Amino acid sequence: LKFECLSNDGVDDHMVWLIGLKNIFARQLPNMPKEYIVRLVMDRNHKSVMVIRRNLVVGGITYRPYASQKFGEIAFCAIKADEQVKGYGTRLMNHLKQHARDVDGLTHFLTYADNNAVGYFIKQGFTKEIYLDKDRWHGYIKDYDGGILMECKIDPKLPYTD
Ligand code: ACO
Repeated sequence: LKFECLSNDGVDDHMVWLIGLKNIFARQLPNMPKEYIVRLVMDRNHKSVMVIRRNLVVGGITYRPYASQKFGEIAFCAIKADEQVKGYGTRLMNHLKQHARDVDGLTHFLTYADNNAVGYFIKQGFTKEIYLDKDRWHGYIKDYDGGILMECKIDPKLPYTD
């Protein structure tokens, strides 16, 4: 089992994994247009952190780091149906936080959470209260009807992974 964070960089293995992740998102997020999922997963401004087991993608999170604003926007998050509620979603989020802090230099995440995923995000330290200065994110992330805006502060020192 491994966790990888990568973007569309033309490396063959990476492309295969990104397509696998795109297919998981398309199935697990049926309200999202498939073309929109493909566009963001393949967009070079977005990165994806993935759980990979025996060279197959089990799930992942696609996000866009805004380096100048020091926050990231989580676009999609999903684990394959038959692998949910085994702890992968939590481990994935911890790898994302570690990578976003140590590699991207981010301090916060924002996401529009689906109603049924709010409980998961709360367990990952997200809140419905937005403490981040609106100047820092307004105009960067798009308003989106189908979800609830949530925020997570990344701890500056905590080791999120072992
Ligand atoms: N609602 C409430 N609690 C949840 C949910 C949920 N939908 N999903 C998981 N949890 C809880 C688990 O019970 C667990 O609690 P515990 O620590 O007390 O035992 C905790 O959250 C973590 O569970 P994991 O096993 O780590 O989570 P999992 O691997 O199942 O991943 C995820 C969670 C990503 C939400 C997965 O269930 C999934 O893919 N769901 C369908 C797609 C989806 O809804 N994605 C999010 C949409 S919003 C967005 O993408 C921005």
